[in-house]
This record gives sequence, C-alpha cells and structure tokens, in this order.
Amino acid sequence: MQFKRTLVTLLGLSTVVLAQAQGTWPTKPVTLVVPFAAGGPTDVVARTLGAAMTRTLGQTVVVENKLGAGGTVAASYVAKAAPDGYTFFIHHNGMATSTALYRKLSYDPLKDFEFVSQAVEVPMTMLARKDFPANNLQEMVSYIKANQAKINLANAGLGAVSQLCGMMFQRAIGVQLTEVPFQGTAPAMNALLGGQVDVLCDQTTQTVPQIKAGNVKLYGVTTRNRVKVLPGTPTLAEQGLKDFEVVVWHGIYAPKGTPKAIVDRMNQAVRTALKDPDVIKRMDDLGAEIVPDATNTPEALHAWLQSEINKWGPVIKAGGKFAD
Ligand code: MLT
Repeated sequence: MQFKRTLVTLLGLSTVVLAQAQGTWPTKPVTLVVPFAAGGPTDVVARTLGAAMTRTLGQTVVVENKLGAGGTVAASYVAKAAPDGYTFFIHHNGMATSTALYRKLSYDPLKDFEFVSQAVEVPMTMLARKDFPANNLQEMVSYIKANQAKINLANAGLGAVSQLCGMMFQRAIGVQLTEVPFQGTAPAMNALLGGQVDVLCDQTTQTVPQIKAGNVKLYGVTTRNRVKVLPGTPTLAEQGLKDFEVVVWHGIYAPKGTPKAIVDRMNQAVRTALKDPDVIKRMDDLGAEIVPDATNTPEALHAWLQSEINKWGPVIKAGGKFAD
C-alpha cells in the first residue's frame, strides 16, 4: 500500500517535471550525436546545423562523436538514452542499411526512435589517391582489374555509405578489393591523402575542397544527374556503370518516448536552420541539397526510412557481406 502510494506520488511528480520541462525546453545544452569521426561529412552537416539551431533554441547544440561499427554504436547509444529532449541523433542511409548488414542489432530503427526531421541530400564522388595511375574511369577500372590484389579500398565500416558505394562499385566492375575500414571518412580521407589507401567513395561535403585543391583524383559522381558543385564531372552511370546511383540522405532522430512537444520544436528548429543563409551557402558550396520544407515532417522521415529499408535490403543481401 505504502509502495503504491509512493509510486503514485513519484509518477505525479515526474508528470509535473516533464510538463515543466516541455514548457521551458531547452534549459541546458542539447547533444547531437554523430556516428562518425569529427571533421567528416556527417560531422560537417551536424556542426553547420548545430550552429544555426543554437541561435534558434537559445541553448548550445553540442556535437558528440560516438564512433564504431559503421554508425551502429551511436544508434544503439541513442536508442537507450533518456528521452528527456537533450539527446538527438543525426544519421544517414546507414539507419536503413544496417538492418540488412547486421545479423543482430540491439535496436530497431523504425521502433526505437522518435523521428524529428530530414536535413540534406548529398552526392558521392569516386576518388583515388593523387598519384593513382589512371586518369579517367575507364583507365581506373582497367588498372583495378589488372591489379586487384594490391588495391585497397577505404571506407567507414559496415553501415557507412562509403562502404555501400564501394560495395556497389566492386560489384559493378566485377572485382573484390581489400577493404580498409576507418571510424569515419575523415580518417579515411587522411589515409588517401597520405597514400596509405588507393580508392575511396565519399560525400561531396568532405571531398569538394580536396578535389578543388587537386589533392585527389576524381572519376565521377554517384548521382543520376551531374552536380552543380563539380561542373563537367560525369556520373558513373553515364560512363558505363549502368544504373549506378547512391545519394546520401541525413535524418535527425531522438530516443523513443521523447515528448512530442519537444520533437515538434526540434523539427521547427531544424527547419529554421535549413532556411538560414549561412547554412544554405555552406551546403551549396559543398554540393548538399536541402530537403523541401513543405514535406519535412517526422512522419515523412519515418516513411522515407521504411522505403529505404525496403530498397537497400535486397541489394545488400545480394552483396553477401554481413556482420554479427
Ligand atoms: C562520415 O561522416 O564519416 C561518413 O558519413 C561515413 C560514411 O558513411 O561513409
């Protein structure tokens, strides 16, 4: 009886505290978890949006990089975090592809999160180290085929889009390369610049400055159409890799149970950030496309994730590379 009364009191108290929290939220810094290394493509999007959201929310958005297992360590961490409105998560296609890549995931991407907002879409670029002995895609493919055993392909682990793109590339040209996983494509890019690895497929949000500085060789973009930020660069598909298309999309999530009022305010904060002139310019300079505001709802992100799980599952299963 005493226990029941205490429980009722506690539940009553927590309802009051929660209601207050929703009314004044946020009263302290908000954490945005990034599943890959600092300085890389996901981190760049998170920090750009975070700076703008800090202005709207009146509290600092702190980016926290939680690395490992192609983004699944961070996803698992956020799925189990307190749903108090102070932990959010930015992730890309990996939220969908991991369901097929991992035999056991400690979370369900569709059920263990609140869906906040979509953010940007980003093309990828097929690159090699600066002194790679091939000057166009045709030469690259011939060289790789002739030297398969000694070519290293960098990526950010199973669940990363660099891994997905690399897998599709190998399949398209019929080779099996040695894959070298990093904890993000920031360290993978460093290895490419240092010549420790040969090939990397990575997002324009990181690669454009390196391409423009002439630090890497570029062989094509992974989108259906050419992209404005790299004029004159052909797509992989138009150079003969039939139907090759990988577009990276970023979404923002919260732990399941985060109050709807907070999720809705965060959705507004992201959408306001996506209209900020600094964000628009930075994303434009890096080739990222902002998702249309009119359709940017939590429900739309949930539906999109479901469609991406349906799309990539069979592609990955056919690829035959899995982790426990
Ligand atoms: C990163 O932020 O490092 C990348 O998004 C990793 C990847 O998925 O390739």
